[in-house]
Amino acid sequence: MAKIIGGITTSHIPAIGVAMDKGLENEPYYRDLFAIYPPIREWLTEEKPDIAVLFYNDHGLEMFLDKKPTYAIGCAPEYENADEGWGIKPIPPVTGETELSWHIVNHLIENDFDPTVCQDIKVDHGATVPLTLLWPNFTYQGVKVIPVSINCERHPMPKPSRSYAFGKAIGEAIRSWENDAKVVVLGTGGLSHQLDGPRAGILNDEFDNWCMDKMVSDPEAICQYSNVELVEKGGAQMVEIAMWLAMRGCIKGEVEERLRNYVSPISNTAVGVQLLIPKD
Ligand code: DHB
Ligand code: FE
Repeated sequence: MAKIIGGITTSHIPAIGVAMDKGLENEPYYRDLFAIYPPIREWLTEEKPDIAVLFYNDHGLEMFLDKKPTYAIGCAPEYENADEGWGIKPIPPVTGETELSWHIVNHLIENDFDPTVCQDIKVDHGATVPLTLLWPNFTYQGVKVIPVSINCERHPMPKPSRSYAFGKAIGEAIRSWENDAKVVVLGTGGLSHQLDGPRAGILNDEFDNWCMDKMVSDPEAICQYSNVELVEKGGAQMVEIAMWLAMRGCIKGEVEERLRNYVSPISNTAVGVQLLIPKD
């Protein structure tokens, strides 16, 4: 059976991808942020996951406000990125894993989740920036990727508790796949930030750190918040913690927090990074 070997949370701020392209990792502004990635990459190089299930949000590239699936699963042989409005960033496509994608879809439908199936979909910075951070130079170390999107853009969004349950069902699906693949689960986006409107620039270090603590010890505590409460606490884009909850839901039982970093702000956003290892 397939095995989930770990979970990683990371931001997807486009400026971080640009900083990597320009080799700015050691600049004073970025140094503390980038310090966490070499040990995470070392772990990935040692553990060699075969597949990454990547929870992300599509900010409008494929799923604009007029067509917004609540949950969508990539079932494509490969995923390209595309122009988000400032020129196409030439990232080579990542390879998919359609057999596991379909296994997840079937398992979800049998367990009362009804995701949108995407056999042809491009992915935006929500997916490409985390991939660039974790596997630089677009080598991806042979890892296959299954992108899973969660609506974080338009009302009504899924409840945090629902995204956690959704992740639990995906974790069950992975563990019931008859294949000895090693799987890493990625929760991207977050933490506190708001990009526009009167509260643009809001940050909440205390709440972010509470969420990171609870990601380890008690993720259900985060699920008690509604999306409106999350917006009040950490700004409109705090709802991106949905992807963290889905990732954490995949991991059954207790976790060891192997690595953590928190830097705020980078661009407009508080950046939290964690490497969580299942204890079972
Ligand atoms: C920023 C953060 C995001 O989550 C995003 O999707 C785009 C930009 C930022 O802080 O610049
Ligand atoms: Fe975002």
